[in-house]
Amino acid sequence: MSALPISVATLAAMKSRGERIVCLTCYDAGFARLLDAAGVDLALVGDSLGMVLQGHDTTVPVTLDQMVYHTACVSRGRERALVVADLPFLACGTPVRALESAARLMQEGGAQVVKLEGGATMLETVRRLCDLGVPVCAHLGLLPQSVHRLGGYRFQGRDHASADAIRHDALAMQEAGASLLVLECVPEALATEISRTLTIPVIGIGAGAGCDGQVLVLHDMLGIDPGRAPGFSRDFLAGRGSILEAVTAYADAVRRGDFPAAAETPY
Ligand code: KIV
Repeated sequence: MSALPISVATLAAMKSRGERIVCLTCYDAGFARLLDAAGVDLALVGDSLGMVLQGHDTTVPVTLDQMVYHTACVSRGRERALVVADLPFLACGTPVRALESAARLMQEGGAQVVKLEGGATMLETVRRLCDLGVPVCAHLGLLPQSVHRLGGYRFQGRDHASADAIRHDALAMQEAGASLLVLECVPEALATEISRTLTIPVIGIGAGAGCDGQVLVLHDMLGIDPGRAPGFSRDFLAGRGSILEAVTAYADAVRRGDFPAAAETPY
């Protein structure tokens, strides 16, 4: 593993060499330093902070100001990991709003990539952001910001029509210029197929072991809130002496292809 700072080009090269990409959510400078020490490649400033830091039931209340604040904290701590920051709920409601929001995450927060949830409706926005030099991570499958429309946090892509839509959106996002794709809570076979089809790296969460990389929510993989972590996560701190050991064990397990195991792959 190289000590050089990670870029989107590094990730593309890792995919082409078949090296798995390790990603974790991160919300502050101390953890950003720890993720670097453990060799995590991507620090995702996820709007999951609304749930694990702020105590909300969903990510919907998270504001752009809050995302900028946490992204700046992470950027100050990290030296190697690539900083990916979430565009929060409706921050890309229009392409113009998306540009303004991405500008804040990058200029004030120091984000190197912005992540946005959604498929076909986001294509024009992704194209515009990419044309203007903004690296984009698309997010398909379960879209937590749409929880009220979905009626809960449910696995996606389990029937033919919805699997086809995700397949189609994934390819369209790549064609629109996205540099990365997160696939959340989709069946392993679908995620594996999409990872093999796309040339851009695909990072899975609750999507089985066939993706180019994995991401987990930091608090879930440290067992911070027992009983609340999803079944596809693993408590890496259990039986280990420190948080650094736990995060290093996660990074090693992802790189070896030992995480997620079958028991952590519901579909
Ligand atoms: O907000 C977040 O932490 C995320 C991950 C679950 C992928 O989007």
